[in-house]
Amino acid sequence: MVWPPEPTSEFDWNNLGFAITEVAGHVETYYSRKEGKWTEPQWITDPYVKIHGLAPGMNYGQQCYEGLKAFRQKDGQIRIFRPEQNALRMQHSASFICLPEPPVDHFLKCVHLAVANNAAYVPPYGLGAGMYIRPLLFATGEQLGLNPPTDKYTLFVYVIPTGVYHGTHPIDALILDDFDRAAPQGTGSAKVGGNYAPVTHIEEFSTSGFIGMIHENKETGEPAKIVVPQSNSVINSVTVNSCIEIAKFFGWNVEYRPVHYDELSTFNEVVAAGTAAALVPIKSITQLSKDAKFEYLKEDEPGPMMKELVRVLKGVQQGNEPDTFGWCQLV
Ligand code: COI
Repeated sequence: MVWPPEPTSEFDWNNLGFAITEVAGHVETYYSRKEGKWTEPQWITDPYVKIHGLAPGMNYGQQCYEGLKAFRQKDGQIRIFRPEQNALRMQHSASFICLPEPPVDHFLKCVHLAVANNAAYVPPYGLGAGMYIRPLLFATGEQLGLNPPTDKYTLFVYVIPTGVYHGTHPIDALILDDFDRAAPQGTGSAKVGGNYAPVTHIEEFSTSGFIGMIHENKETGEPAKIVVPQSNSVINSVTVNSCIEIAKFFGWNVEYRPVHYDELSTFNEVVAAGTAAALVPIKSITQLSKDAKFEYLKEDEPGPMMKELVRVLKGVQQGNEPDTFGWCQLV
């Protein structure tokens, strides 16, 4: 058999959004606290799962998830972008909400199996599309009491072929600062479903991380700078971290620190960064409570710093730039 298979002809690859499409199947693996171990990954073709209505995942939100991507390269090979980072972040999320932490090797085995068995659904090279991978860890044992913890947990790994979440056009953002996405000492840094319904102040966007950018000052010789909000209640974003490394590689300054609303006027560019979103240029940010609007882009295209970041990020993901960072894993 020729490996990997070519993209299936079932799809209109030029018009992929973020909608759910049928693929070949997903992976499930189960953990029992009594036995203290994970089962071998199972390949399941039915996308529907049967879960007891009294499972803690359903009633108490005892679940966490990840998002990562696989890309087809020019030579037809498929590579997954930084999956071990997602394995580590899932362990972090799981530790917050009493879920068993899937070992990194086991997580990677499940992710590789889900991608390999759906290889024909990894979009063609060159369209800016990728395969979005959604690992979901869920307390599936039936139990209403909160203590002792339930016995059964399931790690699902689903995939869908996708374009990018927001498209690539600049978007207008809105700050709703009269409520928080997550409590300051709460689950903000864990990727749990409950954090994704509400929105936040300047920590991150509702679907992705925040990067503020200041252009190089040619008069003073001060290099370009990116500013990334530091807070205990934001996700440790793989895409933002990758941009930080790329920025350092360019010789830009990187500031990782709390960011205040009044700094919004000092940025030349603002970008939303995430796995699903990739890098999205922010056209403007409106802060309703202050009746203020900060505008970043006059034209409908990204600013120069974002263009540079995206060139290297997507270049490495799609195999057009050398993977000097050692980020991609071959399927
Ligand atoms: C991701 O970028 O992977 C996310 O989890 C965001 C989600 C809204 C798709």
